[in-house]
Amino acid sequence: MILRGSMAIEDGRLKIGGCDVVQLAKEFGTPLYVVDEAMFRSRCREYRAGLSAVYPKSRVIYAGKALLNAAICRIVEQEGLALDVVSGGELYTALHAGFPADRIYFHGNNKSIEELEMALDAGVHRIIVDNFDELELLEALAKSRSVVPDILLRVTPGVEVHTHSYIRTGHLDSKFGFSLHGGMALKAIERAVASPHLRLRGVHCHIGSQIFDITAYDAACEIIFEFLARAREATGFAPEELNLGGGLGVRYVEVDHPTSPAEFVAHLAQIVMREARRWRFELPALLIEPGRSIAAEAGTTLYTVGSVKEIPGVRTYVAVDGGMNDNPRVALYQARYEAIVANKADAPKTNRVTVAGKLCESGDILIWDLEAPKIQPGDILAVFATGAYNYSMASNYNRLPKPAMVLVADGSAELIVARETFADLVRFDRIPARLRDARDQAAAAHDGEPLKRASWR
Ligand code: LLP
Repeated sequence: MILRGSMAIEDGRLKIGGCDVVQLAKEFGTPLYVVDEAMFRSRCREYRAGLSAVYPKSRVIYAGKALLNAAICRIVEQEGLALDVVSGGELYTALHAGFPADRIYFHGNNKSIEELEMALDAGVHRIIVDNFDELELLEALAKSRSVVPDILLRVTPGVEVHTHSYIRTGHLDSKFGFSLHGGMALKAIERAVASPHLRLRGVHCHIGSQIFDITAYDAACEIIFEFLARAREATGFAPEELNLGGGLGVRYVEVDHPTSPAEFVAHLAQIVMREARRWRFELPALLIEPGRSIAAEAGTTLYTVGSVKEIPGVRTYVAVDGGMNDNPRVALYQARYEAIVANKADAPKTNRVTVAGKLCESGDILIWDLEAPKIQPGDILAVFATGAYNYSMASNYNRLPKPAMVLVADGSAELIVARETFADLVRFDRIPARLRDARDQAAAAHDGEPLKRASWR
């Protein structure tokens, strides 16, 4: 089992950021997302310091899709990173938190008119254009506002990376970006360069996520530079910026051996410098967009065990009070996690159990075959490395409220996302007039809101 960041085991209990997690479970309830602030920050620093040490002009852009809320925006801002947002909602979250717009990169393969307008109004630093329709739409919007947005074009180099097929993005048959094959990307460059309403700064590519073999980036870079050389010949365009996306893998379980961020950025720097030299390009600024490798291992989810079901000769199911609603990654990608019983943290692991969620799906499993001490109802289970793509992908399936999130550091814990309530779940429900009856009329007469009452109480 891997103890990450500020984790420690003291008196048989798991501590994170100096906080006893059993106490956190008691104080804030479960399921509970716990974020280790020091670890999140140290990942940001490792990336930023690592990249600036090996490459002259560079920027680290945190990919907010991994984990985003107001407090995370603040930390990312304080650590001097830029932010990648991928929707109006993420952009709104960032702006609402006061994140500087001139450090925001706006992504997405189907940005709506409203989203593009929002980005232009806010004055985001870069819009990463994914397709011809967007190029045209953005050009028209920019023209009508007499602004000239700075853009990058997302290109798809056609490299296959060894990761789950759902999180592969750089291959030829991908919904993302302009393909380098068949002349699409070249046409996009010609089109953007010719437009007086757009300022083309460079290209972007993201080949996939949870990548262990970082030589996949060599292939992508080689292909992109070769393409850029052709584009330069055809259009005279030379990129000021090259954004290589995110994708570095993290350690979910002991057998995972990812490259460290420092080694990763050193590798990227080297191949970009080599390729730029080979094709006689002035060195472009190097941008990267890590998400998972900053957030994942800083997060832990706490659950309370509700039932233990032993099927003799088959397996023992330990059911917890969350599941695929707060962590859909196991069901979606067969992801693997580790966990410990936080209140029995140094007890010998004599049993093998399967940790199941409480949702109405057989696939709602969090961990198959976990080695653990004897588990009983009321025990607190801590599942590790849940900081990325858990909260951000959480749902209300089975009408489960989304968990709260606390930020822990130096022995103190602060709520950064409040727990959803049952009232939150019905807040947006409406009963059409033709379905209303006496109960709604009585309630409406009372406060004008047909559903603002709780007759079940
Ligand atoms: N930049 C772009 C354009 C991206 O599409 C992504 C992730 C990133 C950066 C950040 O990649 P990271 O460093 O986090 O690997 N839900 C999936 C992951 C989807 C990743 C989507 N794009 C999962 O839970 O594994």
